[in-house]
Order: sequence, then structure tokens, then C-alpha cells
Amino acid sequence: MLALCIQVLAVLVICAAGTEKRDHSYTFSAWNMGDKPLQEQLAIVYKEMENLKHEQVVMKQKQEVMSQALPYCSQQPLNTDVDMNLTSLSGSDHLFNTLSQFEDDEGSGEDENDAGVDPCNHYTALDQVWRATNYTTKKVVCDRSMQWKGWYRLFYRGQTIQMPERCVRKERCGTHAPLWLVGGHPRIRDGVVTRKVCGNWKNNCCLFKSPPIQVKACMGNYYVYKFVKPVVCQTAYCADINTLVCGKCRKRESCITRDKITWMCQKNRNRVKAKIHFFASFPGQISGKVNRIVYRKVFVNQGRALNSRTGVFKAPVSGVYQFFFSTQTGGGGPTDLWLIVNGYWVAVSHSNVQGPNSVGNLSTYMTTLRKGATVYVTHNRGRSWANTSSNTIIFGGSLLMVRKI
Ligand SMILES: *[C@@H]1O[C@H](CO)[C@@H](O)[C@H](O)[C@H]1NC(C)=O
Ligand SMILES: *[C@@H]1O[C@H](CO)[C@@H](O)[C@H](O)[C@H]1NC(C)=O
Ligand SMILES: *[C@@H]1O[C@H](CO)[C@@H](O)[C@H](O)[C@H]1NC(C)=O
Ligand SMILES: *[C@@H]1O[C@H](CO)[C@@H](O)[C@H](O)[C@H]1NC(C)=O
Repeated sequence: MLALCIQVLAVLVICAAGTEKRDHSYTFSAWNMGDKPLQEQLAIVYKEMENLKHEQVVMKQKQEVMSQALPYCSQQPLNTDVDMNLTSLSGSDHLFNTLSQFEDDEGSGEDENDAGVDPCNHYTALDQVWRATNYTTKKVVCDRSMQWKGWYRLFYRGQTIQMPERCVRKERCGTHAPLWLVGGHPRIRDGVVTRKVCGNWKNNCCLFKSPPIQVKACMGNYYVYKFVKPVVCQTAYCADINTLVCGKCRKRESCITRDKITWMCQKNRNRVKAKIHFFASFPGQISGKVNRIVYRKVFVNQGRALNSRTGVFKAPVSGVYQFFFSTQTGGGGPTDLWLIVNGYWVAVSHSNVQGPNSVGNLSTYMTTLRKGATVYVTHNRGRSWANTSSNTIIFGGSLLMVRKI
């Protein structure tokens, strides 16, 4: 933002140099008065602000005059206060290319308002019936003329509403090219995300690539959007009338959709009560080194955390897990199976018997895993025996408790 202002100033200075010589540098007298009483200081600050406001108006007027007078200045990209007329531009590929460049500008991150303030509690309510996707009246609005600042929450007659996640027909939402959110809304745990915004025009759902915006999901089934100035007129941020139902979802529900047209409230699957249990066996004989045993006979796989094609268990949530694994061995020297957690060899099932004897050996291991951790068993040496019904080479485990780490 600051950089933008400086750029504007720079443009102004360049242009001003061409027209007249008056100096616009400004001294902040409010900055050297630490010894004065607070009230007096405040009065001075207010006066400074008024002066600055006035100065700003003068500069704006100058800018307008100069943009008309000087062709060079009017070509500056920031000098776009004059609305582009969509009807006359609609056939222009040149415009489309220019707009595409905005796409790469995203994620600058810097933000003077966001110093520790949760936008879920600090937003401006935007309750404008004409933003709705079912609004067809020919009221042509352009969001370029809005002074966007900070975060916004969309309402429709006092009810929470969301941006559309799919292309909206043109001439809706009180504008020519309705703006919709690409890539869908985030979940609460995603925090603030950046999303692309597209404007539909001429049967092209994204003919107008509007600058990306930031979006955040909030507790209570609503979203806040950090809207920014679109680059062309007439475009406006839409409110999807089909999402009105989402605002009525209860505390432990979230709004779901398959087609992004029909929305409905659905009970959240309680992640804290996640049930993860698995038990599988290898129904054959293993000899020598096998890097990863694929326990292809799966008896229990609650939560689908064990991949029966690879033999790898992947922790779906962070928490405390318990594993067990075993083998049955007979003669021929020591047999070792190791449990491998995130690449570390953490526990062994070791057996060593003489002659024709056979013995089973079971090992267990309990640990705290981060979500996404991988666990499998390797056959490092020896011979393990099993047939299709013996279940002697087995691997199993359970999530004992969910725990944030
Ligand atoms: C946009 O162009 C159309 C057609 O050329 C014209 O009728 C309309 O007045 C223009 N609007 C603005 C705001 O310039
Ligand atoms: C749009 O939908 C809302 C909610 O269903 C309804 O109250 C309103 O009358 C509709 N407006 C138009 C113009 O169809
Ligand atoms: C079973 O495993 C334990 C621990 O690794 C080991 O001490 C024991 O000798 C094993 N039993 C046999 C019969 O190999
Ligand atoms: C598996 O091995 C056990 C123990 O040797 C035996 O009793 C059983 O009949 C075998 N089953 C099959 C299907 O081979």
C-alpha cells in the first residue's frame, strides 16, 4: 500500500515537473512537540490531518487535469481512475493480456491492518441486495469506484451469504461481468488464504482475471473477504443466493456442496473422536531381506490409515498410537523384523531357535506421531513362516488418543 502511494506520488512529481515548479514536499510539524500537553498535541495532529486531506484533494485535481493534458502521464498504469468501458472493450484481447499480469501479483503479504487483529471480528458488513446472483435488474455497478479497505463480510438482507464458487452468468450481481471466487472457500484450519477472482464475460468464465483476494473462514459459518479494487468496469463481487442456507448451519455443522449450486448443512465429523484401528497379516513365507512387508490380508482398517497396496500406515491425525507386529520363525538362524517410524528403526521382533523348532515373537511399540507420519515393518533377515490362515506374520495398531502437537 505504502509503495503504491509512493508510486502515485512519483508519477505526480514527474508530471508536475512538466507543468509547474511548485514544491509539494510536506513537513510534519506534529513530529517535534513531545513536550506539549496531550490535548494540544492532538489538536495539532488533527490540524495536520486536515491539511493533508486538503493537499490530497488538490493533488487529485491536479492529477486529473494533467492526465488530460499530458499523454505520457495518462499512460501511467496507476492513472486509471477513468473507468474503462466494458462494452467497448469486450472485443479487446489486449485488455485481457494486460489484466492477466495482475494474476502474478498475489501474496505480497504485507498488511498494515492485520497486526494481530482477527478479521473474523473486524470486518465491514456488505449488505447490498444487488450483489446477489439472482439479481437481474439493469443496475450497473462497478466495484472499481468503491474505496476498498480491510475485510468484508457479505450479507443478503441481514443474512450471511458467500461468494459464488462457480461461474456466474453475465449481467448478474448488479453488474456486467460478475466476479466469482476460484478454488473455493477455505476451511477454518486453513487460516487466511489467497484466492483468484474471475469475471465472466463473452462466454469466458475468466475473461477478466481480477486481482486475487484474501479469504478466511470464521467460527459460526461465515467468511470474510479482503476485497480489492477490480481492474475493469463494470465488474462487481457477487453474493451467491444459493449459499444463504449456509448461514443457517449450526455450530457443529459445515456447509457442503457437490456441484457448487446446491448447498446444505452437514454435521461435522468430530475429529477429536477419530477412530483409527487396523490389523493385517501377510499370508505367506518371507525369507531374507524384504524392505517393506505388504500385509495384503487386511482384517480391520478403521479410518483407512493403512494402505493395503504398500503396507504403509500413515497417521491421519496427530496423537498417541500403539502398534504391534509379529512373526513365526523356524530354524536357520536369527530372524529380525523391525518397525520403522518416519524412516527410523524403532523396535525389533527378534527370534532365534535351533533345528526344527518354531516360535512366534510379538513386539509392541507406543509413540506420539504427528499427522502424516509413516509406519511400516521391514523384514531384515531370517525366515518367517505363515500360511493363509495362520496369521503369524501380522501388523496392527490403534490411535489411543488425539493430541495436538
Ligand atoms: C460505454 O459504451 C457504450 C457504447 O459505446 C455507451 O453507450 C455508454 O454510454 C458508455 N458508458 C460509459 C460510462 O462511458
Ligand atoms: C433472490 O432470492 C431471494 C432468496 O431466495 C429472494 O428473496 C429474492 O426475491 C430473489 N430475487 C429475485 C430478483 O429473484
Ligand atoms: C522374542 O523377542 C525377545 C525380544 O526381542 C527376545 O529377547 C527373545 O529371545 C525372542 N524369543 C525367541 C524365542 O527368540
Ligand atoms: C496352515 O498351517 C497350520 C499350522 O501348520 C495348519 O494347521 C493349517 O492347516 C494350514 N492351513 C492352510 C490353509 O494351509
